[in-house]
Amino acid sequence: MSVTSNSVTSNLAASRRTFLVRTAGLAATALLPGAARTQTSLPEIQLTAAPNRWSLVSDSKLTTDLWCYGARIPGPEIRLRQGESARIVVRNDLPEATTVHWHGIRLPNAMDGVPGLTQQPIKPGEQFTYEFTPPDAGTFWYHPHADSLQQLGRGLAGVLIVDGPQPVAVDRELTWALADWRLAPDGQIAGGFGNMMDAGMSGRLGNIVTVNGTVSNEETVRAGERLRLRLVNCSLARIMGLRFQGHHPVIVAIDGQPCVPHAPQDGRLLLGPAMRIDIVLDLQGEPGERHAVIDDFYDGLTYRLTQLAYDKRPPLRTKPLDAPLALPRNPLPEPDLANAIRHELTLQGGMMSGMGMMGGMGGKGTMGGMGSMSARDGAVWAINGQSMTGDGDADMPPLFVLERGRTCQLRLHNDTAWWHPIHIHGYSFLILQRNGSPVADRQWADTVLIPPKQTVDVAFVADNPGDWMLHCHVMDHQVSGMMAVLRVA
Ligand code: C2O
Ligand code: CU
Repeated sequence: MSVTSNSVTSNLAASRRTFLVRTAGLAATALLPGAARTQTSLPEIQLTAAPNRWSLVSDSKLTTDLWCYGARIPGPEIRLRQGESARIVVRNDLPEATTVHWHGIRLPNAMDGVPGLTQQPIKPGEQFTYEFTPPDAGTFWYHPHADSLQQLGRGLAGVLIVDGPQPVAVDRELTWALADWRLAPDGQIAGGFGNMMDAGMSGRLGNIVTVNGTVSNEETVRAGERLRLRLVNCSLARIMGLRFQGHHPVIVAIDGQPCVPHAPQDGRLLLGPAMRIDIVLDLQGEPGERHAVIDDFYDGLTYRLTQLAYDKRPPLRTKPLDAPLALPRNPLPEPDLANAIRHELTLQGGMMSGMGMMGGMGGKGTMGGMGSMSARDGAVWAINGQSMTGDGDADMPPLFVLERGRTCQLRLHNDTAWWHPIHIHGYSFLILQRNGSPVADRQWADTVLIPPKQTVDVAFVADNPGDWMLHCHVMDHQVSGMMAVLRVA
């Protein structure tokens, strides 16, 4: 079938690129007798963070001063191969220190990119080499972990894709890096990062949303084709609820990890900050048609993200491709629930919590259950009464210590009036239950979106030693207290 050969061709092209890079490395090795082949044959990727101008609104002359990886928005799409080591040299040409966190990759702690905890920050003019072997195929992303609110908010983010050994039977693979920007009337990034209104409520929501770096009017598709579409929410705070009007997306992976293919609940793809969803989309419309993709997450604030614009070509096929949707599973250790150690984390604080605001808003008050809250500067949120703020605090004791190799079952209870996408570094966890009801379809994740007053149970095998961040990925919430460290020893 022509379809299959299409996808094979594109996958071949990808592997040829990798092959060329690697061959170059090997050739250099051959000239150096005795050189350690395994060291020099790693494909090396250069990534520079620096200020640059970029037009977020494609058909306008307006440019915005941003901070970019590789001089573009989003940063270059990095493609690695599952089980093969990679080396990424990050150079910092920003006016301030930075680090890079490889969000969702189960990597060694020293490569996790948390300043003060896993590495020294990369100072302006300096570089740092990250080296790791991604164990899982899937959709990941990278972003700074220093001055996170401002650095991500000024544009530093990119998609990282890990390819497995087998090509997936689709006609085309596509990535949509979605990002939300708060622009001032002059087209520049608005100031006021970290103000109390944003911090204590839903975070810094913007006023334009881009698809792969520009506001999108349409994305061209062909009738009959099957797409694998990787959706990545790179926003500081915006939660998205995406509907592909006239289409039936099937979720095949969440946060990079394959799940049982299933339709989204109520037909809406719920994508909190930092979350990824891979969908398979059969384009069953007619040539020339247009179908909106809308985001209706926030009441009364529905907007059109883009539209699928069918080109004029005749359909590639008349019935959807008859190929399996399930992706090959990744080597994730299965949690041993019978012997799990259990911990409960309660998310606290924010406005309208019924407990008043903590810290900054003049309310150093210790009302209700907040008595044990540490009154740290700018702390608005807490986890179990403890608020880690800013870039984190290596001196603050870990929230808990896990014995290496043991299964941890974690209950995350959101005792606030706001949604929180909770991310754990270094691990993917299985989502077991929401409010006590089992979650179907084997959903693994590294970031789980928890609605107000709800509870989510997750589990993972603590097989990756080190000090790992756990935090809300609404950046304003993270830097104002909804952050902690777990230690696996
Ligand atoms: Cu994507 Cu600690 O973050
Ligand atoms: Cu939050």
